[in-house]
Amino acid sequence: MPSRSISVHLPFVVALDGPAGAGKSTIAKNLANEINVAYIDSGSIYRTLTYIGLTTFQSIEGFEDQIAAIFNTNLEALRIIYTNQQQEIYWNNTLLGEELHSLALTKQIKWVANHAACRDIVNQKIRHIALTYPVVIDGRDIGSIVFPNTPYKFYLDASLEERTRRRAAEKNIAENTEAFFDLQNNIAQRDHTDQTRSIAPLKQADDAVYLDTSSLSINQVVQSLVASIIQKQKD
Ligand code: DC
Repeated sequence: MPSRSISVHLPFVVALDGPAGAGKSTIAKNLANEINVAYIDSGSIYRTLTYIGLTTFQSIEGFEDQIAAIFNTNLEALRIIYTNQQQEIYWNNTLLGEELHSLALTKQIKWVANHAACRDIVNQKIRHIALTYPVVIDGRDIGSIVFPNTPYKFYLDASLEERTRRRAAEKNIAENTEAFFDLQNNIAQRDHTDQTRSIAPLKQADDAVYLDTSSLSINQVVQSLVASIIQKQKD
């Protein structure tokens, strides 16, 4: 088993960045499982901030400072729990599940994602976790901004069509239906807002390994990442 050759000493952060639907969360979970470390889905923390805004103010735009303040003063209300390498998020003892992934919520994330105080508080939370656990983290700016010094940085990509097919399969949406094209538009718009926002835009870190996952199986990608981590530890 190649993962046995990986030595894990804190800090140990594997950064997996890339656009929506590139397979990051599936790969991150499988990789974390394979090398026996925790998994953090940073997107779900941005989703939680958006959820807090929608449930408190029914809107996000214009409320970003207040959302960051609520999050900051109630950091203990956010609990991230790892069960079998799966991440569960609780806010005020409520397990947040599918509500974090609705299209309506997803369309509003851009407001918190482009707000410095919101990003700072998410980064603070993630960096704190990484002091305690070895982790695989997926997101947009993990290798470029949050952990610029980690040697293990990967940028996972796939074509827009393939990414839409993957997200549609997760949501039981049939291909080439109106819902499918809505999803495709939403992903394309998110690519644009993630890549062009003024703070921490989605981009490949200079020293990240690029992997196009369009025609690779989950296991192929995971094994390729494991091999790359082992190689970096030998270098
Ligand atoms: O990974 P995801 O699709 O659940 O992420 C949702 C949104 O959160 C994404 O469109 C942009 C934002 N995000 C971010 O700005 N930075 C991260 N590290 C992770 C997510």
